[in-house]
Amino acid sequence: MADYDLVIAGGTVVTPSDMVQADVGVIGDRIAAVGLNLRGERMIDAKGLMVMPGGVDSHCHIEQLQEGGGADEENWTTGSTSCLAGGTTSVVTFSTQFKGHGILEPLAEYRRRAQKAMVDYTFHQIITDASDKVIFEEVPQVVESGVRSLKVFLTYDPLHLDDKQFLRVLAAARRTGAFVTVHCENYEAINWRTAALLADGRTAPKYHAWSRPSMIEREATHRAIALAELVDQPIQVFHVSCPEVAEEIDRAKRRGLKVWGETCPQYFVLSAQHMDRPGFEGAKYMCSPAPRDAEASLGLWKVINDGILDIISSDHSGWSYETPVGKRVHGVDAPFRDIPNGVPGLQSRLPIIFSEGVVKGHIDPCMFVRLISYNPARLFGLYPRKGTIAPGADADIVLWDAKKTTTLTNTLMQHIIDYTPYEGLQVTGWPVMTIRRGEVVMRDGVVQAEPGTGQFLARGPYDMIKPTGRVPFGFDASAFIV
Ligand code: URP
Ligand code: ZN
Ligand code: ZN
Repeated sequence: MADYDLVIAGGTVVTPSDMVQADVGVIGDRIAAVGLNLRGERMIDAKGLMVMPGGVDSHCHIEQLQEGGGADEENWTTGSTSCLAGGTTSVVTFSTQFKGHGILEPLAEYRRRAQKAMVDYTFHQIITDASDKVIFEEVPQVVESGVRSLKVFLTYDPLHLDDKQFLRVLAAARRTGAFVTVHCENYEAINWRTAALLADGRTAPKYHAWSRPSMIEREATHRAIALAELVDQPIQVFHVSCPEVAEEIDRAKRRGLKVWGETCPQYFVLSAQHMDRPGFEGAKYMCSPAPRDAEASLGLWKVINDGILDIISSDHSGWSYETPVGKRVHGVDAPFRDIPNGVPGLQSRLPIIFSEGVVKGHIDPCMFVRLISYNPARLFGLYPRKGTIAPGADADIVLWDAKKTTTLTNTLMQHIIDYTPYEGLQVTGWPVMTIRRGEVVMRDGVVQAEPGTGQFLARGPYDMIKPTGRVPFGFDASAFIV
């Protein structure tokens, strides 16, 4: 008689800390054992493959509502399909607030839309208007409902918060036991430089990079960390583009602050040069912060190996190149300022990082697992249910062919977006099967999952994001209604 419902046999199990030849036994939706000679009702032969925890993408934009109605092109069905095809089984996406409005209604709408998900999911709640009602009444309810991370933008019209509003969000998070994630770029500096570029007739996509050089990101990162230190509120800096910015996080960590940083595949394989393509083509590569140069990309591996950045998310953003609601929403002659930011990447995240990182010798497979699954699961309160292969964890597993070479092209991506910025990039390492809570949902690129089978991941309190208890002069300003 078989002891397990499913056994994945004979593969190399890669955990955050070890690589071992072992079988993985699954009962129901959970991993029940990692051992030798396990017998299952169903057997999957994983000989020659790596067996890794399903990817956790802790920063991606799916079906995000837009001001004035409608939502991002990427919807839950296509977004989930792309995730599963790429070996990702859980996502943290966003619920956004529009200025002058609350956060409860949009969150309810996001949860309604996510009922079509085929990956497990939770949200970061974006705060764009730190009104009294939102800060003192609604944030506690949102956190209580299991949405335990807030997101703020220090740039972008009309999303950005000034320092006072940012402090109010940090204080609300401290009071409620939530975490805060931050898009760090200096709003005024970008606007000032943009105005000058446009006044000089420099409107093409390539000037996007010119409008926001690295010190604009570095300054905002420094400021976000200092304000978080003032409040004693742990934060994560989103999408760090280069080592110069990561240095700010390094300094904060050395001072004992709870500050973490993520980066994204685009900062390893794209550069400002990509935006300098003929005509409107450069729009395909526009994201913020802007990709830098080859030296910065290479430097990010050192920063990762030094433990300064510990998560690689996709920051997948749903803007097609050809559709009237995508990159060309304001026409192909629109100045760079008016072209929507963001690049797609749900499915390409794992292959690019494995290929650029593991195959090129910058990181080992255990570090790969930490960057794409274990660390995001821990930081966002999903561990030990997600992020590892161990008894008790959800049976979210990707079988990985470390030798398979693939040329990335948009038809492989299975997202709704009509292009990939990685068209033609050759990668080595590819997911050949994805298992989500014990169910095979992708085999050889074919995704078979029912819409609505993704589960909402409610996040309760967890130690990692607890404040340090150190506030200036021992005075905790966050305890006051200000
Ligand atoms: O350019 C980007 N990153 N777009 C997505 C929104 C954001 O800033 O995260
Ligand atoms: Zn951002
Ligand atoms: Zn983003």
